[in-house]
Amino acid sequence: MGPRRQEPHGDTVTSVDFSTTFSNAWFPTPVFTASGCASSGKELAQFFPLKDIGAVVTKSIMNKARLGRATPRMAETPSGMLNSIGLQGPGIDTFIEKDIPWLVEQKARIIVSIAGETIEEYSTLARKLRSVSGISAIEVNISCPNVENRGLVFACDPETSRKVIDGVRRTIGGELPIIAKLSPDVTDIVSIARGVVDAGADGIALINTVLGMVINLSTMRPHLGGKTGGLSGPAIRPIAVRAIYQVHAAIPNIPILGMGGVASGRDAFEMILAGASAVSVGTASFGNPMAIPYIQDELKTLLEEKGFKQMKDAIGYAHRIDEVHE
Ligand code: FUM
Repeated sequence: MGPRRQEPHGDTVTSVDFSTTFSNAWFPTPVFTASGCASSGKELAQFFPLKDIGAVVTKSIMNKARLGRATPRMAETPSGMLNSIGLQGPGIDTFIEKDIPWLVEQKARIIVSIAGETIEEYSTLARKLRSVSGISAIEVNISCPNVENRGLVFACDPETSRKVIDGVRRTIGGELPIIAKLSPDVTDIVSIARGVVDAGADGIALINTVLGMVINLSTMRPHLGGKTGGLSGPAIRPIAVRAIYQVHAAIPNIPILGMGGVASGRDAFEMILAGASAVSVGTASFGNPMAIPYIQDELKTLLEEKGFKQMKDAIGYAHRIDEVHE
């Protein structure tokens, strides 16, 4: 059966229930922006209504305004992109004052991503967000690779990741879902995932970028101002699919926000089959700002072609096939 929809944003003529949930947060579609790739969504709003996608996951915000790392901060690589932004942003107070009301006006579903240099900073951010209305969930980014030292990549250590999530959970209370964003740069991602879930995370975001480097052959020095950067794009998709599969196998009831090189409906479908409840699209939007609505449409058509009545039935389907063959 061929695709029934030709244009994004045409009337929905498929019957697939596309909705998804993270704890008590409901989203009409499982395709979100990826944190860091569209700031608070203004750039993308020129191309499509933000309310038409699952959610806007905002750029990870810190307590104070921050300029980020020295330039150059981006490098192209085969099938991917290296970034070394360094958590540039306006700081939480300006973000709450300007970005959240704008997103609410757009009727977008909002997932606020937070990042901190200390465990206490995460709790401070949670306290400031606690009483802000219009937010669907908090993404706790404990895995930014572009920090001064590796000791600040909390997600590389089970104990500190657990402590960050525990602090946010205690501060924010029980209502707002917490999604912990993990790094693929660890030996055992399942043990980190178990730790943050035990500490109160309602969902896991998998994966942040993979630590990489490019040497400039003219200067014969590292190309990026910050020397290392985070690799994103299709090059890392198999790593993301593997991480999603492993975590879903170990903790099947915890929703996963999958990301890492999703550039088509097929890529999104692959992550859902591996165990993702939703996917975030980042790098693909740089090449094509309409990537998210196109991916949404392709995914819906694929689900329909495969006979799924609801997207939720496809989550983790690859595991069920294993059971049949074993
Ligand atoms: O450098 C950055 O702002 C990237 C953040 C992240 O990947 O979490």
